[in-house]
Amino acid sequence: MSTLRVALVGCGDHGRHGHLEAYQKLIQAGEDLDVVAVCDRDEGRAKSAAETLPSGRWYCDYEEMLADQRPDAVSIATPPAFHRAHVMAALRSGAHVLCEKPLAMNLAEAREMVTAAEEGGRILTMGLEHRYVPASDYLRSIVMRGDLGQVYHTRLWCGHVWKLPPSPHFLQRSLAGGGVIAATAVHWLDLALWILGNPNVVTVSASTFAKAPRLRVPPPPFSNAPEGARILTADNVEDFAVGFLRFADGSTLSLEANWLQHPTHRRIGIQFLAEYGVAEHRPLAVRWDGDGQIVDRTPPDRPSEPADHYFLAVARDFLHAVRTGRPTFITGPQMLQVQAMVDALYESARRQCEVRLGE
Ligand SMILES: NC(=O)c1ccc[n+]([C@@H]2O[C@H](COP(=O)([O-])OP(=O)(O)OC[C@H]3O[C@@H](n4cnc5c(N)ncnc54)[C@H](O)[C@@H]3O)[C@@H](O)[C@H]2O)c1
Repeated sequence: MSTLRVALVGCGDHGRHGHLEAYQKLIQAGEDLDVVAVCDRDEGRAKSAAETLPSGRWYCDYEEMLADQRPDAVSIATPPAFHRAHVMAALRSGAHVLCEKPLAMNLAEAREMVTAAEEGGRILTMGLEHRYVPASDYLRSIVMRGDLGQVYHTRLWCGHVWKLPPSPHFLQRSLAGGGVIAATAVHWLDLALWILGNPNVVTVSASTFAKAPRLRVPPPPFSNAPEGARILTADNVEDFAVGFLRFADGSTLSLEANWLQHPTHRRIGIQFLAEYGVAEHRPLAVRWDGDGQIVDRTPPDRPSEPADHYFLAVARDFLHAVRTGRPTFITGPQMLQVQAMVDALYESARRQCEVRLGE
């Protein structure tokens, strides 16, 4: 394949600073790639992003862009309510697709998208950048080898300290599908499940809270948030969630996802409690018993943050898969499993009971 022709739909915060910047860095590094056009329904955003392209091409209508440009690959960085329509249109046009998280508003949509990609022989992958840091790969390898014995419980904390997400759509259920679970926990839940070898989940329970509108001092938006980003209404998505998963082998996972924690010390990361030791992500720490004592086996060369641009590894993996035809690091079944967990957590919170999967 000669020069790869890539297009972007959604020139907001992450489309611009995640996807587009990553592609441009790969071009600077010598990748045979051309970002042929960008699209945003907001003309100002589309034009401004296009100013960074050699072609300068921009569109407000993604169907028109796909028909005119016939890109080999398309990045989708629009709010989740549009992912299904944008992904299906890009696949129909014959393109491979990198879509943002959460993949879809629900599992039924996600299944439709993954099936369409499979049937059309096209790649569909997701923007889950924490998968690609060296610490993630290391933890999966020691868990899979059984170095730690059985992991009997996984603890997961995620979110922001005293910050609501930057773009307004994150707080609106009709656009985002959900709050801190769909937008933030999805990263960490996917990562924990992958490190554990994507085990079967039998039951899920959760409670969710939407406290932002009730706080006396509402948390500020991120510094890159556009004007009016904080839309606090009674119908806000959840900004705090707790959840509990039980796996088929009896092991468990608990999660706490939070956008509102008052500024105070709190962990963000994952901890694996295992028969012979404890392993942690962010920062990486591994301690296990050997020769009758607890030994620190944390490798010094496996950072849990990307060494370069935060989205570079995702873009590189996607383009490599497009070129070579080999699968991406993040596969269809994995994307469906994490979407199923997101759906089940919401269902449990809504029904206020444990959800048994497969029922
Ligand atoms: N992987 C990550 O680390 C990460 C980080 C931030 C956001 N995201 C995800 O990226 C997606 C976008 O988030 P964001 O923060 O960039 O939001 P944003 O609001 O800043 O940008 C979304 C853009 O999509 C455009 N858009 C909406 N509908 C459109 C349509 N029909 N056609 C063309 N353009 C359309 C909007 O005008 C806007 O410019 C979300 O799914 C979000 O969860 C991922």
